[in-house]
Amino acid sequence: MGDKLKFPDGFLWGAATSSYQVEGDNKNSDWWNWESEGKVREASGKACNQYELFRSDFKLAKSLNHNAHRFSLEWSRIEPEEGKFNRDALTHYKQVIKNLRSLGIEPIVTINHFTLPVWFCEKGGWIGKRSERTFAAFAKKAAEELGEDVTYWLTVNEPVGNIDSGYIHGTWPPGRKSLKEAGRALIAILKAHCLAYKAIHKVYKERGWHAPKVSMAKFTLYHTPCRSNSKLDILSASIRHYYVNKLFVDSLISGWCVMPGIPLTRLPLKNSLDFIGLNYYTRDYIHFMGFSPYKIFGEVCSLPHHEKSGKRNFLKWEVYPEGFYKMLMEFAKYKLPILITENGVCTNDDNERIDFIEAHLKAVARAMKDGAPIFGYLYWSLLDNFEWTHGYDPRFGLIEVDYATQRRTVRPSARIYAEIIKKNAI
Ligand code: GAL
Repeated sequence: MGDKLKFPDGFLWGAATSSYQVEGDNKNSDWWNWESEGKVREASGKACNQYELFRSDFKLAKSLNHNAHRFSLEWSRIEPEEGKFNRDALTHYKQVIKNLRSLGIEPIVTINHFTLPVWFCEKGGWIGKRSERTFAAFAKKAAEELGEDVTYWLTVNEPVGNIDSGYIHGTWPPGRKSLKEAGRALIAILKAHCLAYKAIHKVYKERGWHAPKVSMAKFTLYHTPCRSNSKLDILSASIRHYYVNKLFVDSLISGWCVMPGIPLTRLPLKNSLDFIGLNYYTRDYIHFMGFSPYKIFGEVCSLPHHEKSGKRNFLKWEVYPEGFYKMLMEFAKYKLPILITENGVCTNDDNERIDFIEAHLKAVARAMKDGAPIFGYLYWSLLDNFEWTHGYDPRFGLIEVDYATQRRTVRPSARIYAEIIKKNAI
């Protein structure tokens, strides 16, 4: 590729966040209740107080040359009771979008990043009756109110991770451990995406706005069989690969959900992705556990198998840029434009973040050279924030946050990333 790869003009560069992780005080949501019940190490509290500090945070992003920013809407703020929309919250998100636009930063809006309003959960959450319609009604409202200044929408964030933690392992709300319910949640979220996709496009058409680009943020994880010579490990790793990486995208393109153990389901729409939003962090080694429905996905090898893998971040996830390249090439086969909606590292050593960013951007550049239609990269995250059950210890930010004072400090890695953006080359 020569020494440097030049990214195309107009390439989107920036960072991603989610409302619950940065805003603070999202008291009307399932996660807030979950924390109040003492189910996490540390409660989110004020988080980064970005609900108030967004202007200065975006100014920092601008000073770091970002031209795109991903954030999410907090459903529980906008619709605190079913069908009743909070004007102040809508005005707030309008200001967020206007502020980004005024800085020349493209807003990329996630409609739902994990957290749900309490009323929605009381009706059964994703597996409640007509949950997909309820979600689509919210998406429609969001498009009507905010759409004039938005092109890129992500309906939901990482449904597979959410379902896994919430319905299989029970470590996230709603704390269930039921394969059957996980299957129902999966179908509901697929349908919710389709209906939201339809609703957003309809709003734009009726209002005569330029067509939106709608997708979801898809979790991807590279899987390697734990023992390379074990046919059973290979089997479990490939089943996991299908479930974790492919199922959602395949289903949304074909209009059918095909998953062993889940009734064959027709979705309300096919081809409901205008692009692919792709999140990538790491790889897992997979060990065969048995043939039952619970076990067929295998288990992630624990140490000492991990010893053969590379460097690890603060949460012990392997740093594996080669897996990023491979996932990008795998997703390039769908022939849809790809936006990297998350990629990042938590570490207390900022030099590791510099290495991570450079290695992963080289993987992006290589994938583009090999034909992957990537049009943007969003680092996770703009600033340190609330990392779900792990609380505040993992530091993912380009910008350091002192939670006691809410003081922001730009890390050297943020400046190196800013240089890459400026040169538009790696
Ligand atoms: C993603 C998730 C984010 C963030 C990140 C780092 O899976 O979408 O909310 O927590 O991981 O763990």
